Amino acid sequence: RIKRQAISAEPTALDPSQLTGVTLKSYCKTKESSERIQRALMDNEFMKHLEHGQILTIMDCMHPTSLTKGCCVIQEGDDGSTVYVLEEGMVEVTKQGKKLCSIGEGKVFGELAILYNCTRTATVTALTDIKLWAIDRQGFQTIMMRTGLIRHSQYTDFLRSVPSFQSLPEDVLSKLADVLEETHYSDSDYIIRQGATGDTFFIISDGQVKVSQQSSPGDEQLVVKILSKGDWFGEQALKGEDVRTASLTAVGDVTCLVIDRESFKQLIGDLDDVNSKQSDGAEVEASIQAEADFFSRVS
Ligand code: CMP
Repeated sequence: RIKRQAISAEPTALDPSQLTGVTLKSYCKTKESSERIQRALMDNEFMKHLEHGQILTIMDCMHPTSLTKGCCVIQEGDDGSTVYVLEEGMVEVTKQGKKLCSIGEGKVFGELAILYNCTRTATVTALTDIKLWAIDRQGFQTIMMRTGLIRHSQYTDFLRSVPSFQSLPEDVLSKLADVLEETHYSDSDYIIRQGATGDTFFIISDGQVKVSQQSSPGDEQLVVKILSKGDWFGEQALKGEDVRTASLTAVGDVTCLVIDRESFKQLIGDLDDVNSKQSDGAEVEASIQAEADFFSRVS
């Protein structure tokens, strides 16, 4: 499961350069360097959870720089302004004069002060002449913010397109988009198993999901329905039912947006409330009825 970053911006504020005044610039790289930077970012303990798009943009915006042997790249206690990937050479990391480790090619350093808004946690010195890829704090933070804002806006739009959520106020949709987590499944993966306990609700944002049920243990699994983008399931868990009433498996690659019972209750109350807040549009009504029919069959 990919944990989403918490973001607290208004859903309409889509252009982060208006917020930060930073224009992102990309720098040409060889295929080898691009791949090395990506691998370095994905390999770093603190950055490996970034989204793929964020990794690509950070890589794209890194510029080349070099230093000679013996130079201090980072001084412990300073305000940090740059994140680096080592392209060539070796550096040494020391803290209060004591050696922590040496770092070789294809590694990230200088990320902690930027990610956690603290002063430099250690000193980094070039053991050889070094070549580096660098991105400054503002560029880095703009990328983090832009991805978050775009994703937030996409989630809010998507939620608005789901009939059951259409009439929710904008601020509730926006908060819901904040707490959703994105999950990915491959063909035949179980998303929910009948009989298992669970407290999560799913909305399909991409792909198809097969719903099947077994009347009693040992019986054949009967396919009840195929769900697709915009459909939701697992709502019984939101009403306080722990035990899953059907099995749901991915048909091909599937992406779901997931919310747990506690977050859902805090934001929306129970699902009956959501349905009673629907607008009267015939299409919406028909869709709600179809959902209700379906869920009454599987519950
Ligand atoms: P930052 O604190 O921004 O600047 C110093 C960098 O040294 C830090 O980010 C990490 O990238 C790196 N660093 C700090 N402590 C260690 C450690 N124990 N092992 C490896 N690298 C470290």
